Amino acid sequence: MSKNSLTITDNRTGKTYEIPIEHETINAMALRQIKVNDEDFGLMTYDPGFKNTASCKSTITDIDGDKGILRYRGYPIEQLAEKSTFLETAYLIINGELPNQKQLDDWTWNITNHTILHENVKKHIDGFRYDAHPMGILVSTVAALSTFYPNSKQIANPKSREKQIYRLIAKMPTLAAFAYRHSRGLPYILPDNELSYTGNFLNMMFKMTELRYKPTPVIEKAMDVLFILHADHEQNCGTTAMRTVGSSEADPYCATSAAAAGLYGPLHGGANEQVLRMLREIGSKDKVPEYVKRAKEGEFRLMGFGHRVYKNYDPRGKIIKQIADEVFEVTGKNEIIDIANELERIALQDDYFISRKLYPNVDFYSGIIYEAMNLPVTIFPVLFAIGRTPGWLAQWQELVTDKEQAISRPRQIYLGEDKRDYIPMELR
Ligand code: CMC
Repeated sequence: MSKNSLTITDNRTGKTYEIPIEHETINAMALRQIKVNDEDFGLMTYDPGFKNTASCKSTITDIDGDKGILRYRGYPIEQLAEKSTFLETAYLIINGELPNQKQLDDWTWNITNHTILHENVKKHIDGFRYDAHPMGILVSTVAALSTFYPNSKQIANPKSREKQIYRLIAKMPTLAAFAYRHSRGLPYILPDNELSYTGNFLNMMFKMTELRYKPTPVIEKAMDVLFILHADHEQNCGTTAMRTVGSSEADPYCATSAAAAGLYGPLHGGANEQVLRMLREIGSKDKVPEYVKRAKEGEFRLMGFGHRVYKNYDPRGKIIKQIADEVFEVTGKNEIIDIANELERIALQDDYFISRKLYPNVDFYSGIIYEAMNLPVTIFPVLFAIGRTPGWLAQWQELVTDKEQAISRPRQIYLGEDKRDYIPMELR
């Protein structure tokens, strides 16, 4: 019978070690015993970008990158996008089960009643330049919330954690909308608690002089689905930042700010903004082949293509493509989708992209819908952050309640100078 272990022979010493395999994984610490002599530190693994390292055990999100499968707590993303709402999905992600009606009502009430910001947060936002990127505003104002809620440092207290979770899910859209309104020189709009979570977000973004803002149902639904699609994605860069900062027992506002900062980068959640800039730069369908050629020559990457985990279609991209048509019926077609379709068609029949399994990812189509909704490109990563907040919080909660977790502190391979004596300035 085969054993669930790995036998390693160290050819430096001739010694053999048996390393247990659990969940198709070996524990990196098991390698430490492999030494040349007693003074030796022991073997480590080298894995920049954590391409083959599991940093945690998790029960939240399951991705099968080869099959293009994404599930939250076991529920397929396609079913949640069709049947759930963002707030219900957020409950599921954080609590592990779908809520019953009473649980959903309480959850919704608690989040709805934490949407308002302290007046001083507005002053904080006012301090930014008129052209400040809304993601920069979001990253810093989320961190600033830490100073308003010092009791959030009680991370071992479940009641305190619950409160911060309500606050963060509730306040992210308010912060996002205020950041947007600031960049437009528009007055901030207070939350309207009669509206849905997403309807209220649209209210805070778009309300002008009307007494009551009424969201367009198709747009409200599409935005809600987009939030669901972004709600969690296991150990990506932003989530890893959340867990890394959370592992030092920092409060969840600071950890969320770090997660949002990770998300901001163009290789991660900032890609949706870059996709739109790229499609505008291409300009017309006939320019696509030349652009793809330049990407293949390594001049730049095709934004919205490729994924660390998906080596097949990103299932979220497929759903977004479906809802695009519904949105365009209300907003009018965003002509840029023709360039996007052509880019996808040409790339997916090209050996460079086929052999590297580079498919369109979630960011490839989301920006096209956002733009049709009249949103500026700079707000795209902010929308990603609103959707991702429940995921960050679920991952943070899982981290702080996991006895196997420890402060994040990787090792390094030091290749610098050996000890040398300080050289006085006149001798250098
Ligand atoms: N365009 C052209 N070539 C690419 C691209 C791309 N978008 N992505 C990867 N490659 C090539 C890369 O050059 C490499 O080729 P080679 O083997 O010849 O050196 C190969 O494909 C593997 O790439 P990698 O960089 O080793 O893959 P990774 O897993 O480290 O990177 C990625 C994943 C998402 C950072 C990368 O695919 C990328 O930069 N994509 C563009 C940015 C983007 O759309 N990001 C959004 C990701 S989805 C939303 C989210 O969850 O953040």
